[in-house]
Amino acid sequence: MSIRPPPGIGSFKKNYMKHLLSVEKLSREEMEDIWSSSAVFKKERTRRTGGPLAGQTWALMFSKSSTRTRVSFEVGIRELGGQVMFLSATDIQLGRGEPIKDTARVLGRMVHGAVIRTFAQSDVEDFAKFANIPTINALTDDEHPCQILADIFTFQEMRGPIQGKVVTFVGDGACNVPASWIFAAAKLDFELRIAAPRAYQPSAALLARAGGRIICTEDLKAAATGSDLLYTDVWVSMGKEAESIERLRELTGYQINEPLVKLAKPDALIMHCLPAYRGKEITESVFEANSMTIFDQAENRLHVQKAILDWVVR
Ligand code: CP
Ligand code: NVA
Repeated sequence: MSIRPPPGIGSFKKNYMKHLLSVEKLSREEMEDIWSSSAVFKKERTRRTGGPLAGQTWALMFSKSSTRTRVSFEVGIRELGGQVMFLSATDIQLGRGEPIKDTARVLGRMVHGAVIRTFAQSDVEDFAKFANIPTINALTDDEHPCQILADIFTFQEMRGPIQGKVVTFVGDGACNVPASWIFAAAKLDFELRIAAPRAYQPSAALLARAGGRIICTEDLKAAATGSDLLYTDVWVSMGKEAESIERLRELTGYQINEPLVKLAKPDALIMHCLPAYRGKEITESVFEANSMTIFDQAENRLHVQKAILDWVVR
C-alpha cells in the first residue's frame, strides 16, 4: 500500500518558491496581479468555497503584537480552505534563543507556509531560505509590505490609479511603513513626500536603493499642500518603546490635524495604518471624520492578504 503525503507535505517543495518579503522585491506587474485578485476575493467573499490552501496548514509566527494582521491572516487562511496555527515567539523555543534557521528547518518539514512578524528583515529572509516554504512578511523593522499593498488597493478603489498622484506621509518617516511606501512610489510612479524632523527622515542609502520621486522635508505645510493622500503611522513603533519620551517630544507637530487637511486637495483621502494614537500623529476629529476610509483600509487587509496567499502558492 502506498501512503501518499497530504497535499503539499514532502513532495510539495517546488524548485522555485514564491515569497512576499518586501515591496522592494516586488515588481509593478506582481502588485497589479495581487490587486486584481484582491478585488475578486473582496467581491466574492461570501460565495467562495474550497480554495487554494485546501489541505494545507500555515503557521503565523509573531514576535510583536498585532490585531489587524493576525486576525486578517487567520481569517484569510481559513477562508482559503487552510488550517492555521498561531505561534507567539515567546511561547516557542525561538524566544529562548533557538536560531531562526533551525526553527525554519523544523517548520519547513511540518507546515505549508508561514506568515512572520518580527524585528530583523534578515530573519524573514533567512526563514524563507531555510524553511523553503512560501513565507510572508507580516511586518519587520524594515518593511510592512502587506500594509502598503492594502493601502494602495484602498486608494485605487476610491480614487483610481495612484500613478501621477501626490502622497504625503506625516510623522516618523524612518520606520517600516514609510519605507514600503518609498519602494512603492518608484515602481508605481507617484510622488511621495515625507514630512518629518531630520532625524526621522529615511536614510540616504534607502532613498538611493528605491529611486523614484521622494521628497523629504521638515516643512509639513509645504508637504501637505495639494496632496491627494495624507497618511500617518504611530510615532513610537514596536521595538522603539525605550525612546518614547524623546520621540513624543521630537515628533510633536508632525500631526494630521484640521489646518493640515485644508492644505491638501479638497477630495484628499486621509489614511492611517492603525493603531492610532489620538492627539499624537492624528487628531480625534480628523480621525473620526475619515473613519470610513480608515476602516475600509483596515478591512482591505483581509482581501489583499487572501490575494497574497493565493499568489504565493500559485
Ligand atoms: N496595521 C497593522 O499592521 O496593525 P496590527 O499591528 O494590529 O497588525
Ligand atoms: N510602524 C508601526 C506599524 C504598526 C502597524 C510599528 O512598527 O509598530
